[in-house]
Amino acid sequence: MKFVGHVETPAPDDNSLQTMKAVILAGGMGTRLRPLTNLMPKPLIPLVDKPLILHIIDSLPESIDTVFLAVNYMKDVLEDYFKRTPGKEVILVEEREPLGTGGALKNVGRYLDDTFVACNGDIISSIDIASMIEEHHLKGGIGTIALWRVSDPSAFGVVSLSEDKRIELFQEKPKRGEACSNLINAGIYVFEPEILDFIGDGFVSLEREVFPKILNRGLYGYSFDGYWVDCGVRENLLEAQRILLSQRGEIHLNSKVDVKAKIIPPNFMTNAEIGPATVGPGVCICDRSVVHNGAQISNSLLMENSVVGKGAVVRNSIIGPNARVNDGETVENSILV
Ligand code: GDD
Ligand code: MG
Repeated sequence: MKFVGHVETPAPDDNSLQTMKAVILAGGMGTRLRPLTNLMPKPLIPLVDKPLILHIIDSLPESIDTVFLAVNYMKDVLEDYFKRTPGKEVILVEEREPLGTGGALKNVGRYLDDTFVACNGDIISSIDIASMIEEHHLKGGIGTIALWRVSDPSAFGVVSLSEDKRIELFQEKPKRGEACSNLINAGIYVFEPEILDFIGDGFVSLEREVFPKILNRGLYGYSFDGYWVDCGVRENLLEAQRILLSQRGEIHLNSKVDVKAKIIPPNFMTNAEIGPATVGPGVCICDRSVVHNGAQISNSLLMENSVVGKGAVVRNSIIGPNARVNDGETVENSILV
């Protein structure tokens, strides 16, 4: 158990404050983003102006006063980051061994004595969690799961809904063609603490073992509009980057951009140096990175202190911290570290 911040125990219950707690599941190894996640945990991957996890924390409603981060993989790195980062109260709760999404929730359970929010630590979305909490209370079930419609649900949890939005079936990652609908688990939940009674000890999957068991206790679906991305793979992380960039437009902070550079918006760069190169659309360039003459970069993320050599091409790719794309080299649909 590790604490970060000043408060070592959660604030005492006071219904007049109507505050809530949130748990973010952030202990996965990010295997689908290797080799980048060999260097940093998925929650700390930069997404435009801040790490992925801060987008999630900042999207929580004001009524959430304490955020528990269920961590395992690279927890020291996360702990170090939160020590340096002001904001909401964030308490890291460590699992010695990964406990799965259900086990991780149970491990935080001793702090959860009232309705709480839980979310996967890799989701970028436009959901209004305050309105989801309201709907949860109206329905009065043990849990409410945010739902999103996709064309191929096989990589997700899939639900079938009754007319009053009750979840009648939950299938985790069904085979192609066997999914009961196109409505998927968006990885954002509101739960009553009673859900913890249905989670056994050790490694437990919320999706495979717990949801099917609690359907008769009232598990409801909450659909929303706008955008939703699971950033667990490169293409999706870059898609989330494109969505956030398109909301922010063109931003160059303290960057040196050659007058002959061709900059195609939207992009975001901080403390970068851009020679007469073509940059954009959909490019983020982090601190101290350098792009040389004649390079072409689109739909990509260049992490700090990276270098793109003369005439090099970078498309749909992530260039890790301190990595180098050599002169004339092409990097496409890859993660380079
Ligand atoms: N603390 C902790 N411990 N966290 C974990 C563990 C663990 O053992 N295993 C996974 N997590 C965290 C991950 O870090 C991630 O933030 C979240 O739980 C979900 O894990 P993923 O590995 O990203 O799952 P997924 O994307 O394949 O599937 C999940 O998300 C889909 C939506 O994106 C499931 O919840 C699906 O049902 C859902 O549709
Ligand atoms: Mg995921």
